[in-house]
Amino acid sequence: MQIKKVTFKKIHSTNSYAKEHIDTFDPKYVTIISAEEQTAGRGRFQRKWISPKDCNLYLTYVFFKPKLDETIGQIPQLLALALCDVLRPIVPEVSLKWPNDIVIQNRKLGGILTETSESRGMWGIIVGIGINVNMDASYQKMIDRPCTSLLIETGEVFNREELSEALHQRFFELLKRGFSSNLDSLKKAFIHKKGDWLKTNDFVKIVEGQFEQINQDGSLTLRLENGDFCKINSGELL
Ligand code: BTN
Repeated sequence: MQIKKVTFKKIHSTNSYAKEHIDTFDPKYVTIISAEEQTAGRGRFQRKWISPKDCNLYLTYVFFKPKLDETIGQIPQLLALALCDVLRPIVPEVSLKWPNDIVIQNRKLGGILTETSESRGMWGIIVGIGINVNMDASYQKMIDRPCTSLLIETGEVFNREELSEALHQRFFELLKRGFSSNLDSLKKAFIHKKGDWLKTNDFVKIVEGQFEQINQDGSLTLRLENGDFCKINSGELL
């Protein structure tokens, strides 16, 4: 995979930059946009992503596809798995929370925001990841959910450049291998165990049930109280 990199000291949001400049990226390349600080970092469902300077990773990968299909959601899951693979030697408890949060014992370490934008008769797939690397515990009070960083977990400061290079390399390996070949590793990386009670919200409806499985396409199946199975394609776990 051929790569082009665009780096910023400070930007509003690497995903917003990608959307605004989508027509300028060469579709033959994967463009990786990174920043040391974001002034308007965005999370899923219109949340803010707290993005202090010089301590975390804020990255956006831009791919081009001829058309949109159901495989688009698999790209962020492979990115989340790539991060898990890179971090496991450092923090063995790292795992995934469906669909693509990276957590350490339910404390959020990283999140992924995937967006799409039409460009020149193709689709730009914009996959942004925020990883809390060297952020200290004082930021936890600014974030309304349990969160953590590598520094908080290990007491060590990490080289962000090395971490991002390792992530790019692993992500491209997993993409090359394809989603179905990574499915077993992906299933093992999820924190959920069969029978766990989960509550999902796709902002249309809330569905509760016991975790049954992660499916071939990365979706989630819950077993409802009445015994029926329900397949959830998108949303988040509450
Ligand atoms: C989430 O809600 O879990 C997704 C968070 C995604 C944050 C990243 S940081 C880099 C990129 N730029 C953004 O504005 N958001 C994503």
